[in-house]
Amino acid sequence: VSRTIAISGSASGMGATLATKLRDASDRVIGIDLHDAEVIADLCTPEGRQRAVTEVIRLSGGALDGLAACAGLPTRAQDAKVVSVNYFGVTALLEGLCDTLAAGREPAAVVIASAAVTFGKVSPEAVELCLAGDEAGACSAAEARPGSGYGSAKLALAHQVRRVATSQRWIGRRMTLNAIAPGVVRTPMTAELLAHPNWVSSVPTTMGRAAEAWELAGVLEFFLGPYSRFITGEVLFVDGGAEASRHTATITARSALEG
Ligand SMILES: NC(=O)c1ccc[n+]([C@@H]2O[C@H](COP(=O)([O-])OP(=O)(O)OC[C@H]3O[C@@H](n4cnc5c(N)ncnc54)[C@H](O)[C@@H]3O)[C@@H](O)[C@H]2O)c1
Repeated sequence: VSRTIAISGSASGMGATLATKLRDASDRVIGIDLHDAEVIADLCTPEGRQRAVTEVIRLSGGALDGLAACAGLPTRAQDAKVVSVNYFGVTALLEGLCDTLAAGREPAAVVIASAAVTFGKVSPEAVELCLAGDEAGACSAAEARPGSGYGSAKLALAHQVRRVATSQRWIGRRMTLNAIAPGVVRTPMTAELLAHPNWVSSVPTTMGRAAEAWELAGVLEFFLGPYSRFITGEVLFVDGGAEASRHTATITARSALEG
């Protein structure tokens, strides 16, 4: 049976690869992006987010079977914009489309955080303000610590996924919500980085290669599909073992040596 799935960031990279994969499998995709999408909306602004939500509800007829929030800006983008798009642009879709998902069949949502949640530059204040829903405050806090917008937004997003996923509005309606945390993936976002012959030494990549976008699209598809119905609130690292190799003694927050 064909599903209706909304994908933000559907015009490029992982979002585009996922959209093609789902369409090839006869699902209906409602893409959201700045260009080349069913819904043209700027997730950087409250008006753009509202427009995205309203249009997706209209185009879906009020029932959505899945949501993949892939839109995002890179680390090098302006800190305040990164916080707005990568955190608030994602949480607004989760909030605004929650009831539409509840009307769908076996509804599932997945967002893209980043392996940078464990090593990226972070402003703890910006993370807290994101989680408190204070966009202006979070943006200024990130700007006060240059280069911290990306890590702060992605870390806050990973936490928020756990909070939202386990809230009654989601878990009580058997809706799943998970995050993936990719390492370096070959997409237009990383084209410049990967063009450097020595890029491998500049970022944590245990396997010495970047992931291909289809490898990540497969994981996103898993979180939207029937085999992940008992998984929710998880943050799955898809980083070629980089996170595991740095934290061999820990399973999430608990030390393996604790009682
Ligand atoms: N590529 C990587 O190595 C990597 C690693 C970890 C996490 N990520 C995350 O994965 C996600 C997808 O990245 P990608 O590599 O496919 O990048 P990409 O640049 O190829 O695609 C991102 C898409 O998001 C859209 N977008 C950006 N700002 C937007 C806005 N304000 N409103 C609406 N759409 C907007 C862009 O137009 C683009 O189509 C991002 O959230 C990124 O942070 C990427």
